[in-house]
Order: sequence, then structure tokens, then C-alpha cells
Amino acid sequence: MDDEIHIRSSVVASQLATHGKYGGVVPELASREHLRAIVPVVQAAMAQAAADWNSLDAIAATIGPGLVGSLLVGLTYAKGLSFALAKPLIGVNHVEGHIHAVILESKRDGHPVEFPALALVVSGGHTHLFAVEENQHYRLLGKTRDDAAGEAYDKVAKLLGFGYPGGPVIDQLAPHGDPRAVRFTPSKMKGNTLDFSFSGLKTAVLRWTEARDLSHEIRARRALLAANASPSIKDWISLTPQATLDLLASFQRTVVDEILHRAVTAARAIEARSVIVSGGVACNDGLRLAAQSADLDCPVHFPSRALSTDNAVMIAAAAFPKLRRGEFSGLTVPAYASLPLA
Ligand code: KG4
Ligand code: ZN
Repeated sequence: MDDEIHIRSSVVASQLATHGKYGGVVPELASREHLRAIVPVVQAAMAQAAADWNSLDAIAATIGPGLVGSLLVGLTYAKGLSFALAKPLIGVNHVEGHIHAVILESKRDGHPVEFPALALVVSGGHTHLFAVEENQHYRLLGKTRDDAAGEAYDKVAKLLGFGYPGGPVIDQLAPHGDPRAVRFTPSKMKGNTLDFSFSGLKTAVLRWTEARDLSHEIRARRALLAANASPSIKDWISLTPQATLDLLASFQRTVVDEILHRAVTAARAIEARSVIVSGGVACNDGLRLAAQSADLDCPVHFPSRALSTDNAVMIAAAAFPKLRRGEFSGLTVPAYASLPLA
């Protein structure tokens, strides 16, 4: 077995077209789409890698956290392969996968993540800070008490008629607005000051929209989305007045400030030698840009865009050290809706 991890293939089946019109993921549709996709996606990945089944060392699959109906499709298929091929099964935590996508790429690019590292996992389900040791040991330092950062993006986008997922659209529209136009109060956390909260910000955006009559522009954007599942940014801008662009820019600035402020404090507290940012929100250009000038004493590592949002490479990357240590899961391992990493 090689010491290094090489990406032999990466095949992602997107469900955005299915869920987009509902303004969020519909669990029942998600598991049906997984069922439809699992066999062709695995076959395509094997073909792209020019691998044959017997050359595999192990089968890794996500065991949680997430929508159990979807997790069960992947996990049950992985169990079937593991049994039929007599190869060990490795159950992986989804969040650990996001962290390992960055560790993998940092090694490949010749600037490996150094430990202890601070991991900031920001996705549709998570806004978590972990202290990470080299041996896959994680300590939770802070997490959101209500909405995840990606969820806040998705809810604001849905409210304003931008569809799902909200992050990419708001991120591309934000540079067209004034980030100082709308003043949102930063969240103050009692107890653990490294925890996050985005529900107050989401409510403030709701109040802002209620104080104006936006029904015309929202209706126009919903109509655009009904006619075209993925409008261009030019299309969105043509239907979005300056005041709304300013709101989006101010929203994004507030989210980015909140995230980076806590990440900087946490990195100092654990004397981090690297910062890892991962999860779907790691795609955010505003966050990437602001992280470059954040007051950090160590390098910040972001994943490539392809490995920021959910993918199978990250699960293989997190499984690899477990394979080396012989840490396997039994065929009875269940799928978990909630599965704390630390
Ligand atoms: O990690 P991921 O693919 O799935 C989960 O595990 O949740 O993350 C999806 C989330 C969505 O909430 C989406 O709106 C957000 O990541 N996202 C972004 C951006 N791209 C995706 N949020 C902000 N800015 C982006 N550019
Ligand atoms: Zn994810």
C-alpha cells in the first residue's frame, strides 16, 4: 500500500436541479435520487480510475451525520460490496471527511497542514470549530447554537426568492452591494464565546424585508427561477435593486466577520500551527479573501472548490489513516442522523 493518497477518480452526482425549486433539500426526494445514482456513480468512478474490484483494499462510506434515508443508500451499498468482495468496511464521519479533504490537498500541494490545527467546518449543517491532532483526534471548541452558516445563506436566499442553494448566489451578488449599508448587531454569546449563532441575523434580515415592499422583486425572481433553473448572475442583478444588493453584501460581511473573529480567537487559544477551513461555505469568495488578511499567525488552508462541497474523495481521505491502523467497522454499523466528531 502506497503512503501517499492519489485521487484516481472523483464523480459527483448533483441533486441541485431536483431540490432547487423547493428552496431546500427534500429528504424523501434526496434518498430516491441517491438510489437512482449510486450504481452508475460507483461504476463511473471505477471506470475513471481504471480500477478493478479486486484491487481495492477497503470500502469506505459515510455513516453520519446527515439524512438517514440518504446515508442508508450509500452505506448499505458499501456493505454489500464489502461482503461480496470480502474487503473491510470503514465507516467515516462526514465532518471528518471535510477536514481531510483539506489535509489531503495540502500534502499534495507541498504545504502540508501542521498540527495542532484549528478546523473550521462551515456547511449547510455545521458551523463548528475543532482542535485537530495528527492522529485523527478532535476536540470541539465551539459550534452553532441554532442555524449553520450555510443554512443562514439558504434561508435568506429563499426568503428573497433566490432559490437553493443560497450561498453561491449571495456570494456572487455581494460584491455588487455596499457591505456597510445595513448594520447588523454581532451576536454575543454567553458561556462559550467560541459558539456561533445566526438566527438573530436571519431574523434581522426578515425584519428588514418586512419594513419594505419587496413583493414585486421577489415575485420577479421566483418567476425567473421557474423559467430557468440556474439563472446567470447578470439575470439576478437585473431583477435586484441596489438596496437589496446592499442588504446581501451586509449580510455576507456579517457572516464572514462572525466566522473569522471566532476562528482567530480559537486559533490563538490552541496555538494552532495551521487553520483548516472546510465545508460548502469554504467556497465563499468573501470568506477566502477576508481570511487572507485575518490576524492569524499561521497559514490558512482552503480546499479546492471541487472538494469544498460534498464529494467521495474526502471520505476516502479520512478513511485512509483508519485503513493503515486497521480500524474497520462491522457490517452491522448503522447510519446516524447525529454523530458528534468529538
Ligand atoms: O458541505 P456541503 O456541500 O453540504 C453539507 O454538508 O451541508 O455544503 C452545502 C452548503 C449550502 O448551505 C450552500 O448554500 C453553502 O454550502 N455554500 C455556500 C457557497 N457555496 C455553497 N455558502 C456561501 N458561499 C458560497 N459560495
Ligand atoms: Zn458536507
